[in-house]
Amino acid sequence: MSLYIDAAHCRPTSRAPIWIMRQAGRYLPEYRAFRDKYGFLDMIRTPEIATEITLQPIRRFGFDAAILFSDILTVANALGADLSFVEGKGPVIANPVRSLHDASQLVSTDIRLSLDYVSRAITLLKSELGATPLIGFAGAPFTVASYMVEGSSSRDLRTLKQFMYSAPDAMEELMDRLVRATADYLNMQIEAGVDSIQIFDTWAGLLSYPEFQEWVIRPIRALLNRLRNPAGVPITIFAKGTSAFWNDLTQLPIQVLGVDWQADIPALGQLINPGIALQGNLDPMMLYSPSDVLKKRVLRLLEPMANRPGYIFNLGHGILPDVNPDQVKLVVDTVKEYGYERVYS
Ligand code: CP3
Repeated sequence: MSLYIDAAHCRPTSRAPIWIMRQAGRYLPEYRAFRDKYGFLDMIRTPEIATEITLQPIRRFGFDAAILFSDILTVANALGADLSFVEGKGPVIANPVRSLHDASQLVSTDIRLSLDYVSRAITLLKSELGATPLIGFAGAPFTVASYMVEGSSSRDLRTLKQFMYSAPDAMEELMDRLVRATADYLNMQIEAGVDSIQIFDTWAGLLSYPEFQEWVIRPIRALLNRLRNPAGVPITIFAKGTSAFWNDLTQLPIQVLGVDWQADIPALGQLINPGIALQGNLDPMMLYSPSDVLKKRVLRLLEPMANRPGYIFNLGHGILPDVNPDQVKLVVDTVKEYGYERVYS
């Protein structure tokens, strides 16, 4: 077994395992060397390249888990979204969903065929990774829907909210298709051999509570109900900006709650069901601070969490592209040196 899997199941571990969101990406010169030669979508669609990029941060830092190099918008693309990534702008969808007609025209695709390159990358990775567990992932239906309706990144989801409030039947149609496609996608990843799953609901925190229940909790529950997970790989939910709704989130059939940098993670540890592990939550911008300050802040997070079986060190959101990799090494080394022995013995 691995530290990461043990912690995800709230089994006592000798230290906190560590991985970081977006650990495979632009802050690494070895990633940028590939990116200079290939388009982002070409990279995720080529299993050999996706495998190499996934392994880069494992080789460099010895993280306790690898996360598949891919993107949450592959599912939108499989459903017919005309997706591209534009330098300086992020994802752009040329044919956004704006009506019930648009939603019902989406492609009924066999995800196993359209996203076959993902299962091939997982197979390759499993043979390369040895004992390091592999995290598979998908975007939650709400966050993927937000890109499909907005057509690009949005600060306030104005277009999505107009759509959601004025055409709830169209929103329901879109979400229903996303729930089914995402379940097929995650089932494919589980069959291909991932050791855990993380669901990203990046924009869930922009919703009011009733909408959060309707468009975040309800669809995620429907999605989880559709999973075939005979080996019981642990499931993590990361929904940025939603720690106030911990009670709804921890009633889902999940093993790990991912926590953003704003939440008081030790306090959450006291509140939530002790059978649910916590993951997080260093402010990604903390990696811009002087190394002595950074080290102190890492320790400040580790100390209170050492008393609670079921803690996975991570950032509170993805690492930023201009962070110095030496700062990542300092974080990893600090976490690895901080043993729990004195607490458990
Ligand atoms: O974590 C990892 O290392 C695995 C790979 C991964 C990527 N995206 C690679 C990526 C994962 C897990 C994601 C998830 C993802 N993608 C989310 C949810 C997590 C989060 O950060 O909130 C979202 C909202 C997306 C959609 C997306 N993809 C956006 C908004 C962007 C552009 C903004 C940005 O960060 O560049 C992407 C592009 C993207 N996804 C890159 C990478 C490495 C950069 C691509 C490049 O090289 O130009």
